[in-house]
Parts: sequence; C-alpha cells; structure tokens
Amino acid sequence: MANKILKNKKVYLPKGQGFIDAVVGLQWGDEGKGKNIDQLLSKGTYSAVARFQGGANAGHTLKLGGVTFVGHIVPSGCLHKNIELYIGNGVVVDVVSLINEIKQLQDLGFDVTKRLYISNRAKLVSFLHPFLDQADEFMRNKLGGKIGTTSRGIGPAYSDVRARRGLLIGDVLLPDFEQKIATLSEFHLNVLNMYKEKYGFEIPQEKTKGIREAKEKWDNAVRELKRLQICDLSFLIQKRLSEGKNILAEGAQAVMLDVDFGDFPFVTSSNTLPANVCLGLGVPHTYLRDIYGVIKAYTTKVGGGNFPSRIANQALEKAFQDAGHEFGATTGRPRMCGWLDLFALRHAIELSGANKIFINKADICLSDKIKVVTGYKNKEKNKEKVLKEFPLYLNEVTGVITEQIPGWGNKNYGVNSKKKVSKELASYLNYIKNKLADLNVKIISVGTGPDREHFFEWEK
Ligand code: GDP
Ligand code: IMO
Ligand code: MG
Repeated sequence: MANKILKNKKVYLPKGQGFIDAVVGLQWGDEGKGKNIDQLLSKGTYSAVARFQGGANAGHTLKLGGVTFVGHIVPSGCLHKNIELYIGNGVVVDVVSLINEIKQLQDLGFDVTKRLYISNRAKLVSFLHPFLDQADEFMRNKLGGKIGTTSRGIGPAYSDVRARRGLLIGDVLLPDFEQKIATLSEFHLNVLNMYKEKYGFEIPQEKTKGIREAKEKWDNAVRELKRLQICDLSFLIQKRLSEGKNILAEGAQAVMLDVDFGDFPFVTSSNTLPANVCLGLGVPHTYLRDIYGVIKAYTTKVGGGNFPSRIANQALEKAFQDAGHEFGATTGRPRMCGWLDLFALRHAIELSGANKIFINKADICLSDKIKVVTGYKNKEKNKEKVLKEFPLYLNEVTGVITEQIPGWGNKNYGVNSKKKVSKELASYLNYIKNKLADLNVKIISVGTGPDREHFFEWEK
C-alpha cells in the first residue's frame, strides 16, 4: 500500500514555488535528527529550519569544530549563519529554555535574534506546567505506571491548549497579559493542591527552589521574549515559499512517541508524524515534498512502556550505552538500548511516508554478531502467536523474532566515503535495504561519528 502511494508521489506546486521537506525520527527519539538537519543545510537547498511540534522535551545535539550545542527549542539550523529559524504554532514554548539557548548561542558567536521568528500562535509553557508534569507523574507512580516524561511540562501545556485555557505567545503582547497568567496560575495552583491533598505530592523545593523562583525566571524570560520577532509565521512561511525558497521542517521526538500512533500512554503529547508539519506551521499539505526519516543502527528509548527489542544481556546493553554516550540530551537519563527493530521501523515508515533514510551511529557496534528484530510474538494462555500487525499496546508483546548477522566492531568510526566502509557494515546496510525493499525507501546517508563531517553517502 505505502509502496504504491510513494511511487506515485507527486508534489502539486505552482511554478516557481518553494517546497517543504521534513526530518522526523522513526524510532523512539534521539536518533541524531539535529546532526542530520545540520548536514542537510550544507547543501544550500533550504533558507530556513522550522520546528512544528513538541517543546523543550527535545534535545538535538549539534557538533561543529569542538563546539557542542544542544537545542531544546531553538531549531537546528542555528549554527548556519544564513538560515532563518522558525518556531511554529504547533510548538509549546519554554521561554526560559529559549532565552538560555539564545544566550548560549551568542556566547558561541551565533547571534540568532535577527533570524529567529516565533509564531504568535505558538503556545506558552507556563512556569507551573513543569510542576504539574511532576505531580502527574507522582500520581501515576503511586497508581502504578509512570510515563517517564522529561518533566518539561509538555503534557500539561498541550492539555491546556486542548482545554482552551492555555496562553499563546501572542498573548504576551496584550495589555491584560498579567491578568491572564494570574488567572491561569490560580487554576494550576488549585490543581496542584488537589495532587497534594489526594496523593501527597509536595513541590520539590530542593530541586526546583520552589514556585517563586520559577516565576521570577519565567517573568524575566517573558520580558526578553517580547523583544524577539513574534509574527504571523504561517504568513511569513507562505511568503518565503512564494519567493521560491525551501524550508526544512524539524521533527522532535519520533514516530513511536506520536500521541495518536505511538504506544499510548507512553508517548509525548503532540503528533510527531510529518502530517503535522502542515498544521504545526500553517501551510497546505501540497508543499510537503521529501520526508527524511532518521534511525540509529540500533535502537534506544527513555521513559516507560515496553521496549521489545531491548538487549537482554545487561553488560552488552551497558556497553552500548557507554560507547554510544546514550544519556538523554535533555534529562541526562540513561537510554535503554536495543537491537534494530525492523518490525517497528516498517510501521514507522508506513505511517510517516518517509522516503529517504539516515542511519546514524553505524560506528557503534560492539559484538562480532548482532541481532535484528524482524517480528513480534504474543503469548496468551500458553499459546504463542506471531503478530501480523503492529499491536495497539506494546505490553502485549511477549517475545520477538530475531535474525543474527555479522557485526563490524569499531572499524567504521569517522568513515566519510562509501569506498572505505567495512564489508560487514556494507552488508548490514544492504540487509536493511532488502528488508525494506517493498517500501520504496532509500538509505541516503550513514553516520559514523557525532561531528558534522562524520558520515558517508550511500544511495543516490
Ligand atoms: P536527536 O534528538 O535526534 O537530535 O538526537 P540527540 O542529539 O538527542 O542524540 C543523538 C546523539 O548521538 C548525540 O549525542 C549526537 O552527537 C550523537 N550522534 C549523532 N550521530 C552520530 C553517529 O553517527 N555516531 C555517533 N557516535 N554519535 C552520533
Ligand atoms: P528528541 O527530539 C527521546 C519521551 C520521554 C517520555 C515520553 C513523554 O530529542 O528526540 P514528555 O516529556 O514529552 O511528556 O515525555 O517521551 N521523550 C523523548 N525521548 N527523545 C526525545 O526528544 C523525547 N521527548 C520526549 O522520555 O518517555
Ligand atoms: Mg534528543
């Protein structure tokens, strides 16, 4: 099905118009999207990078000549001086993070203020949203079944949007903004009190230094936000497209964390699929062209929920964690490590329509034999069956089908040309290609280290 759609894929654009390509994660996040966006920009095809969903739960790492920058909210084009940076209406904006990142970038010699545009329809993460996030996790933990969120207030901020009580970025410019935030905060404090009375949640004073300090920081950040370029971003993007300029949409999180198609409730609170690019930026779908899907040569996941391809041998999982520096770019939590999960990947490609694939971390391979997950099993009343379709809940998965193939040790670190690739890695890439053959995707580039130049092109 997906095959046919992709083969017939046409872009219906008026002559002279620019287009939008999107980069999305196809696993559980942290696939290296930031690096691939940075890499794509060097081709000169795009004039801007646009975040369309998520918030500061994202952590996108960029490495350039000894400099490391982790963008949580500032789009990953920040280290390219001529690239415009857009924060779309679909994003929940943590203003403290935003202002911090702008300052960090200034210190690194990148002043982004003149090329950063924030949608007046983007949503504000209030200073109490992170506390509500923690309180909700506290309650879930008591009842059994924490999500393992990033504590950045993402769920509560999106809940307030859907409940139509949240505030927009444009609201900060209104004369009655103080009143609006006071009303919202009163509501939040009542909810926090409910968590306290019913579940015993105490605001962790030690860790957060309390609500007052959070409010002070937030107020300062809002003051600085007012000096930034807040605009009708949908209008600006359509203007740029009409000028023939192309835009790269930056996905945060990944398909397996999509609020509708991930492993609910162990998901984030936004739609991470590229279908959301149009809604999260305010553009018609006709502009959407290539979908770049990003994966690692293995799989990682942070947070709750089942992780079917998790490496059973704990010492080996730890070795992957250490070699791949698999610690969250936002929370520092260790990421669980698993084998490449082709069953989940096929599902993610079908859902996203990804037609070009980046594979990262091909330099990290720790054993001479590696496994790949090709199917899921479910055992009920002592009867085991192989799942034909991707399950509604991953906790239904009680076993996996694996295939074993030769590994390549650490031979491929820093390899930057197809000619220098070890034969084992080349055969792994061909193996993946064959397994995905009916989906009509191309593996265009393979990452062999964290730096901008650590990659080789694979298929044209
Ligand atoms: P994102 O959230 O998808 O942008 O990914 P993160 O930045 O959270 O995590 C990816 C991590 O892998 C970062 O530390 C990157 O510097 C690093 N990285 C990206 N590509 C490669 C690669 O090909 N090899 C290695 N060793 N590290 C990589
Ligand atoms: P990037 O963009 C990996 C996970 C959290 C948790 C779940 C819900 O860097 O790939 P949330 O705070 O969104 O309510 O948490 O989603 N999660 C991520 N995991 N990478 C991310 O972003 C993530 N953003 C959220 O760990 O399981
Ligand atoms: Mg990340």
